[in-house]
Amino acid sequence: MDLRNALSSSTEPYCPPAPVPHQQPLTKLQVIRTALRNPLELWGQASFTLPWIETKFFKERTLIVNDPGLIRHVLVDNVANYEMSEIRQLVLRPILRDGLLTAEGAVWKRSRKAMAPVFTPRHSKGFAGQMLARSEAFVEERYGSVGSNGLSGSFQTDICVDMTDLTFDILSETLFSGEVVTESENVADDVDNLLHRMGRIDPMDMLRAPPWVPRLTRIGGRKVLEKFRAMVAETMDQRRERLRRTPDAVPQDFLTLLLQLEGPEGLTSGEIEDNILTFIGAGHETTARALAWTLHCVARSPHVREKMEAEIDAVLATDGEPVADPVEWLDRMPWVRASFEEALRLYPPAPSINRAAIEPDSWTSPEGKTVKIDAGVTVLVMPWTLHRHELLWDRPRAFMPERFLPENRGTIGRFQYLPFGAGPRTCIGATFAMQEAVIALAVLMHRYRFDMVPGAHVWPVQKLTTQPRDGLPMQVTLRA
Ligand code: HEM
Repeated sequence: MDLRNALSSSTEPYCPPAPVPHQQPLTKLQVIRTALRNPLELWGQASFTLPWIETKFFKERTLIVNDPGLIRHVLVDNVANYEMSEIRQLVLRPILRDGLLTAEGAVWKRSRKAMAPVFTPRHSKGFAGQMLARSEAFVEERYGSVGSNGLSGSFQTDICVDMTDLTFDILSETLFSGEVVTESENVADDVDNLLHRMGRIDPMDMLRAPPWVPRLTRIGGRKVLEKFRAMVAETMDQRRERLRRTPDAVPQDFLTLLLQLEGPEGLTSGEIEDNILTFIGAGHETTARALAWTLHCVARSPHVREKMEAEIDAVLATDGEPVADPVEWLDRMPWVRASFEEALRLYPPAPSINRAAIEPDSWTSPEGKTVKIDAGVTVLVMPWTLHRHELLWDRPRAFMPERFLPENRGTIGRFQYLPFGAGPRTCIGATFAMQEAVIALAVLMHRYRFDMVPGAHVWPVQKLTTQPRDGLPMQVTLRA
């Protein structure tokens, strides 16, 4: 696809910040340091130009896969031969246990089947009203209008923090309808604390030490985790009680839907608890980061912002009710949707999908080249390199939402764009996240303009998600 002509020379697309791929291989020490500091800086030129690369680090062999055909082979066609990689499980399983993200084998199969109906487009659409109400309440409380909340018509804020709070608000509304049993002042902070203490790679993980070897970087995390689990268990108990007493008067949120699955064919009580934690862990920071990156890229792309604002204004009439149900906004706002999808391409919140081969395997490309994959080899499907790959994308580093408009979307292959993964373990919350993002962006951009703060240094790092290292300070101005 050549999108060059789609843009006039006066609208040269914005290339947002990203590490320049290094030309020389890193030494072992550099690899360790970089992996602990920012894995996004590990990848050399070859990762963005070759269809696959085999690497060896000490004894561990890794295959980095960028060829869409080979990706399809690993994630779909021969999926039974690939399990979750050990390092991913070492980091996430202590927190999420048998939640869907970390469960394997029969437990995963039963849980995914039981939960699939909860995540159908019909149910996600049912949440659109709550997403809209929470987004509107959030902008009113956080930003207010001119003169209210002590804020003037223009002010600075860290958009990364704001988006995390907004998506947490939306998630806790759709999960629990605000009925969380807790003594904590700020549950969002507790979640942040939990994820960032527990969900990160420790040097002991890199050395593949068994789970019982203490991880010094996670000290303190256990206590937060226990507190959190107690809160979820208590909230579940109260809702069970309400379901018994007044089954017709309970909110139809995720909690009710999950508790209705409790039983021998469905989920155990422990699995419901694990999955609530999983939704909190997997379902708000990911969307928050992508929203923040979208606002950053749009701020530097005036022609995109104009298109988005025109679409948003046409639906959210300035006075009175929006002209369409929020469920329809995804279709009514193609530029808003495309900008979010383009931000997911450039800054995939889950930058790496890790697997390990169980039995030896091989794959042959249509050109007749064969890749051999030995048992135990780690296979990395990396949206970070795949989405910026020179063989697959025109101007890979440029922010060009045009790629995702309905008339161009068909040229993007299913296995070259994987923000939500693919195959049986594809993200169960993808429809929910897309709907939430479009609604939130529309509400935010209808009332405000978001601009870069001059001199702010923006740099992506891979922590649990792809996030700005020093936050994302932005100037927010009330639109005329
Ligand atoms: C922009 C937002 C999101 C992104 C980029 C994202 C990304 C992903 C990716 C890449 C995977 C596949 C991981 C793998 O194959 O190893 C995944 C799985 C998963 N996601 Fe999401 N996700 C998002 C939002 C959500 C939301 C809103 C929820 C729930 C409310 C959610 C829940 C899950 C769960 C439970 C899984 C595990 C599915 C399974 O293994 O069966 N995600 N996500």
